Amino acid sequence: MMLERLEAIKKEALESLAQAKGEVVLRAWETKYLGRKSEFNTLLRGVKELSAEERKAVGAKGNAVKHELYRAFETARTTSHAATTDWEAERIDVTLPGVGRVAGYLHPITLIEEEIEDIFFSMGFSVADGPEVESEWYNFDALNFPPDHPARDMQDAFWLTETWGKKKYLPRTHTSSVQVRYMETHKPPFQIIIPGRIFRNEATDASHEHTFHQFECLVVGDDISVANFKSVAEVFFTAFFEKKTEVRLRPSFFPFTEPSFEFDVSCMLCGGAGCPVCKGTGWLEIGGAGMVHQNVFVAAGYPRGRYQGFAWGFGLTRLAMMKYRISDIRLLMSGDLRFIQQF
Ligand code: DAH
Repeated sequence: MMLERLEAIKKEALESLAQAKGEVVLRAWETKYLGRKSEFNTLLRGVKELSAEERKAVGAKGNAVKHELYRAFETARTTSHAATTDWEAERIDVTLPGVGRVAGYLHPITLIEEEIEDIFFSMGFSVADGPEVESEWYNFDALNFPPDHPARDMQDAFWLTETWGKKKYLPRTHTSSVQVRYMETHKPPFQIIIPGRIFRNEATDASHEHTFHQFECLVVGDDISVANFKSVAEVFFTAFFEKKTEVRLRPSFFPFTEPSFEFDVSCMLCGGAGCPVCKGTGWLEIGGAGMVHQNVFVAAGYPRGRYQGFAWGFGLTRLAMMKYRISDIRLLMSGDLRFIQQF
């Protein structure tokens, strides 16, 4: 019964196809005879109800009819296209300009990171790296944060809910987490920078993000002093802003440095005279710095009192925003190509 019906559908479809001319009519034919709601397909969906033997026969017949109809349909389309196309008009004009490919863009943070690395390479520094998800040890304990000390709350951390034994992990809150990692496998003297992404549990607004970039600087040797720090910083910022830049230190506190400083540079826009960018002060805050605390050296396995070094943790994102005059930090992670394409 179903076999005969399939045969009848085929006959009707082929007769109808013989009359069909032009793309629109052909498409309508396809929908009517081979579409999802066509009698043909509705019928085939009914094979489920048949016995195994019948199902086999009807299935095979259905497939054969389907192939035959499609073949006929494709032939009709080709013939119809050939007959109705104005070949003269279709000829390809090889002299027309092509369509350009869209190239990728480097993110402004990547551009600034490369620029910073180049300046430091020229001063004989190396670049070091560490994991973004870090143990509590490297992010806090090894950096001389006492347990339960309020300094841990200076940087609101996200914590991973899972722990491994007693070990707790977190997305690192600063690039300082790489200091002890690096020192465990390197002997002074050395001079490195550590650019990287960091994470803070903060509400976002135009100047705050939960995810941003810093770059750490760590210089360790026999007799490194604050004077070395000031001069490296001055050379770096003068090259970075392409303008003679002065630096200023203000006393501060970090568990991993003694003494500790806040670090400012003369405003790269007004040069210190006072303007809206520096809010009239002539100075721009850059980040924290200091002389490495001996407890940090000890955590890394160095003998206490054997070495001296300076370290800083500056906002790479902040420098990118200053250099490119980006007014809203959230743009950097917006994924908006209109933004990225400008750099
Ligand atoms: N890790 C500090 C922060 O993110 C910044 C910092 C301060 C880094 C002083 C240093 C340093 O290396 O010496 O707030």
